[in-house]
Amino acid sequence: MSERSGTLADDPFGGRHPTSHERMTGLPWDASYHDGPAPWDIGQPQPAIVRVASGGGFAGAVLDAGCGTGENALHVASLGLSVLGVDVAETALAIAREKARDRGIEVEFAAADAFHLERLGRRFETVLDCGLLHTFDSDERPGYVASLASVTEHEGTLYVLCFSDDGPDTGPHPISQAELRAAFNPSTGWDVAAVEPDRVQTRFQEDGAPAWLATIKRL
Ligand SMILES: C[S@@+](CC[C@H](N)C(=O)[O-])C[C@H]1O[C@@H](n2cnc3c(N)ncnc32)[C@H](O)[C@@H]1O
Repeated sequence: MSERSGTLADDPFGGRHPTSHERMTGLPWDASYHDGPAPWDIGQPQPAIVRVASGGGFAGAVLDAGCGTGENALHVASLGLSVLGVDVAETALAIAREKARDRGIEVEFAAADAFHLERLGRRFETVLDCGLLHTFDSDERPGYVASLASVTEHEGTLYVLCFSDDGPDTGPHPISQAELRAAFNPSTGWDVAAVEPDRVQTRFQEDGAPAWLATIKRL
């Protein structure tokens, strides 16, 4: 085995730069999926995303960035849309593919780093971020926002469902409206169309945690 491949094989981050969350926990995201469902992995799509979908909010090719075990992507794909879910956690992707097989839903799941979505070489009319942005520190957000912009069609729509700071009982890493609006604005290629209070369901809170559902248009 060459020294280079040995290094990559031993690297739990697969050669990519660990995110702030991974540096904080000392573990790759994949580890969250090793011992049963992760706290956010509720075994069904998030009600807020189901609502967006039933209101016709998803159109064209859809990207689910940080798809986890795929419940949201599977729900949108079950409506007949073309969906790609990406994640850095191979274990989550394997679970998502198995669900797709079991449910007979046509959907694509692939390993990809949300900081380098341009490497997909594809563009999407609708992009979903359910619980990914809020895992990034403020210094990581500009790179992620630019990466999202690189794959979103002109006038495409990005939905962000993230923990909000509008308590009580906020989830980890809550984000303020002001932070959302600072990240997505015309200078970064985006226009925030709406930020509505909502909930993110989790396995550890009966009625979930306060969230923002942001609808953001690509300029
Ligand atoms: C809080 S979980 C949400 C998962 C899923 N969207 C859901 O609602 O169940 C965040 C997900 O983002 C993934 N993730 C974290 N950093 C990532 C990155 N740089 N690129 C792609 N996925 C990432 C994690 O592996 C994890 O599956």
